[in-house]
Amino acid sequence: MTMQEKKRILSGMRPSGKLHLGHLKGALENWIRLTESYDCYFFSADWHALTSEYADTSEITPNTFDMAIDWIAAGLDPGKCTFFIQSKIKQHAELFLLLAMITPLPWALKCPTFKEQQEQLSDRDLNTYGFLGYPVLQAADILIYLPYGVPVGQDQLPHIELTRMIARRFNNFFGAIFPEPEALLTPAAKVPGTDGRKMSKSYGNAILLSDSADTVKTKINTMVTDPARKRRSDPGNPDICPVFELHKIFTTPDIHNWVVDGCRTAGIGCLDCKKPLIEAIQVVLDPVRKKRDELEADPDYVRNVLENGSAKAMDLAEKTMQHIRKSIGIF
Ligand code: TRP
Ligand code: SF4
Repeated sequence: MTMQEKKRILSGMRPSGKLHLGHLKGALENWIRLTESYDCYFFSADWHALTSEYADTSEITPNTFDMAIDWIAAGLDPGKCTFFIQSKIKQHAELFLLLAMITPLPWALKCPTFKEQQEQLSDRDLNTYGFLGYPVLQAADILIYLPYGVPVGQDQLPHIELTRMIARRFNNFFGAIFPEPEALLTPAAKVPGTDGRKMSKSYGNAILLSDSADTVKTKINTMVTDPARKRRSDPGNPDICPVFELHKIFTTPDIHNWVVDGCRTAGIGCLDCKKPLIEAIQVVLDPVRKKRDELEADPDYVRNVLENGSAKAMDLAEKTMQHIRKSIGIF
């Protein structure tokens, strides 16, 4: 299939810094797979980062570049998809304004992520107009490319539903412009962090794609296990152990059987158990490290990828906007 015959999909990530194994298993591997069958657009949602990071913006742009390096290093091929930066495409802001006009306030206020995020990031004042508009801006990001679908995790489903509702309402006023995009749910394994909670940069429990082999080893060797195994001779229960959860993602069924048996009978110690896991993760991360070294030696390459992709995205976005301006009658 040529690019033209493939359906278009798009997804974005907030530039929050270096990516970790949760991003790899939760999004990136899925994105890499999707590039085979769709015309894919992936972008850094730097304006979305601004909704919560407005008090200190210094990391946002460097994070966009770090993130793009991680994307490519992890195997997302810029020759097979289009990368861009949200803030380079001013048309997103224009469509955001127009969508805001027709979005009923209760739709935004009722979006579950609004209250949830305000509670979770309680160290910041997220009681802003911009933060309330987060999902409306996301709807603009999506709809401006008239995509068939949007690959996202479960947490983003309310935003896709709101996007579909806004599309429908907009079409009612101004004619059939937007398709209602499908959520392409990532078949995501939940990746636990080193403390057993969900892997997240803000918890400080993440194994980064850019961690050295030694750092990975130390992080896993100090990772929490079943607390019942205080001594080597105490049997444990892999079903409540986050190390075993990582095994299920990274090692083979043979090793799982060896872990289950060895753990329950105290036949192996936790450090024995962690050894093949560390090896399996190094096998995943070694090529990522190698690719990153190449990319860091050639910073112009990543800059060009983002610039060229943004120019291509802008063409598409501007085409949609011309149609929309005409439909509304305000040029
Ligand atoms: N809200 C998304 C997240 O936090 C990021 C995002 C912004 C996005 N705009 C988007 C995702 C458009 C998909 C499509 O992960
Ligand atoms: Fe967890 Fe493995 Fe230790 Fe069992 S042996 S508690 S599965 S780390």
